[in-house]
Amino acid sequence: MKDAPLYLRPRVDPPLASLLQDASFLHALCDALGSPLNVLLPEVVAENAERFRSVYRRHHLAGRVYFAHKANRSSALVRRLAACDPAAVGIDVASLDELRHALGCGFTGERVMATGPKDRDFLWLAARVGATVNLDSAGELDRLAHLVRRYGLGRVDVLVRLSEFEADAGHTGAGTRVLSRRSRFGTPVGRSADVWRALERHADVVELTGLAYHLDTTALEEKARALERCVLLMDECRGRGLRPRAVDIGGGFGVGYVADAGEWERWTTALSEAVLGVRPSLAWRGHGYGLRNEGGTVRGTAALYPAHRSVAGPGYLDALLSRPAPVLGRPPATLLLEHLNDLYVEPGRALVDQCGLSLARVLDVRPTGDDPTRHLVRLGMNAGDVSLEEHGVLVDPVLLPRAGGGDGRHDEPPGGGPVGVHLVGNLCLEADLITRRVVYLPRLPRAGDLLAFVNTAGYAMDFHAHHAQRQPVARTVAVTRGEGAWRWCPDEDYWPLTDPQGVPS
Ligand SMILES: Cc1ncc(COP(=O)(O)O)c(C=O)c1O
Repeated sequence: MKDAPLYLRPRVDPPLASLLQDASFLHALCDALGSPLNVLLPEVVAENAERFRSVYRRHHLAGRVYFAHKANRSSALVRRLAACDPAAVGIDVASLDELRHALGCGFTGERVMATGPKDRDFLWLAARVGATVNLDSAGELDRLAHLVRRYGLGRVDVLVRLSEFEADAGHTGAGTRVLSRRSRFGTPVGRSADVWRALERHADVVELTGLAYHLDTTALEEKARALERCVLLMDECRGRGLRPRAVDIGGGFGVGYVADAGEWERWTTALSEAVLGVRPSLAWRGHGYGLRNEGGTVRGTAALYPAHRSVAGPGYLDALLSRPAPVLGRPPATLLLEHLNDLYVEPGRALVDQCGLSLARVLDVRPTGDDPTRHLVRLGMNAGDVSLEEHGVLVDPVLLPRAGGGDGRHDEPPGGGPVGVHLVGNLCLEADLITRRVVYLPRLPRAGDLLAFVNTAGYAMDFHAHHAQRQPVARTVAVTRGEGAWRWCPDEDYWPLTDPQGVPS
């Protein structure tokens, strides 16, 4: 008997929705440029930046939105952001090559934030072009100061990245010490005095312009605590004669991938039931996504991104700024305003929400050996080309049938209609599964159909792409809507110019 389909259908907003409806355009692109293929909508990244800006306006806050470049390698997205208001939109680069790319796409150094651990060359170029260096440690500050002196560079703006925040007795009066998650990056707040001393030592070559954190969590409470602590530490710095002006709260605003809360609830409940053995497995070879059955009880933590989110992106920033902070009981937006601090954010995933999709051609469809109701669908892509699963993001692809039907070799499943399939990749490797779970599609695909994985621009599109077996890495195209039809160009050829070539507007 066939099990009832457990869909996890994607949230698709316009204009991505209308692109998806133009199946013949997407088929034509894939026919010309091959499978896999990444399709980006650069206009949407600018609209997302504007949505973040509107949260700033609502709270009367100044400061910049820095795109965390690591989320996507595209030139089109970075160029489109470079064309936004320079005072409002910057870029966060985490490697020498990301910095070079940002500069080549039109960002001036002053709009760049250099984050993460940095080698000498990265530090030198960041300092040379006047980027803000988001310091990972006191040691990194020493290395930067040495370079500035040795090569006669100008004074560098720096932020100090902090980690391991706690609500300590001195500030709460409550006597509780709640540690935020540990991180490999940044200086633990408990050791911040080392950095203040290093800043004083190097005051001739660097200027502290703010404090920063990036917490790899979706927990609002933890972030609110860190934000509030930074505001208090900013005052402590001022007391030492330093002049910080901005708090950088990093990224992690999140994206809602699955449209329907009920579908997400049903799927996660079914996962627990499957792990307990009261229903068939939802995934390849009984995979439990980190959950296990211990004597009839589900144990472990599901390694899953919360794919349905009622509050995400700019809405999450709004919520963070509005809810009373845990220690002082005032909204962080009010604290920032009262203490005359600017706000910096570094959204990656959330800034490229709804900015693109990844297409894969269906190459082969065959029944699995052990279950005639389940099929293996082999795609012209591998798990590196759409790394949703790698990031724990579970969301269904959209089937785009080829007009005129398939090749006639495959029958519809008994009764037709919805079908559970395993999506497998093009590598000669057992582990190359596009998704480990059974994916339900409205009907069995045929060779020649396309599957569109929507909303892949954040980390899923090219973060893990590789050349194993010399399989082709996806080409990336930028699409824009013009005069009733979609226009495309290679990602590297996109520039944010709207008037026709050579014609003054
Ligand atoms: C320092 C820093 N800022 C921003 C981000 C972006 O995070 P997200 O894509 O979750 O917004 C990251 C992600 O790793 C990061 O390390």
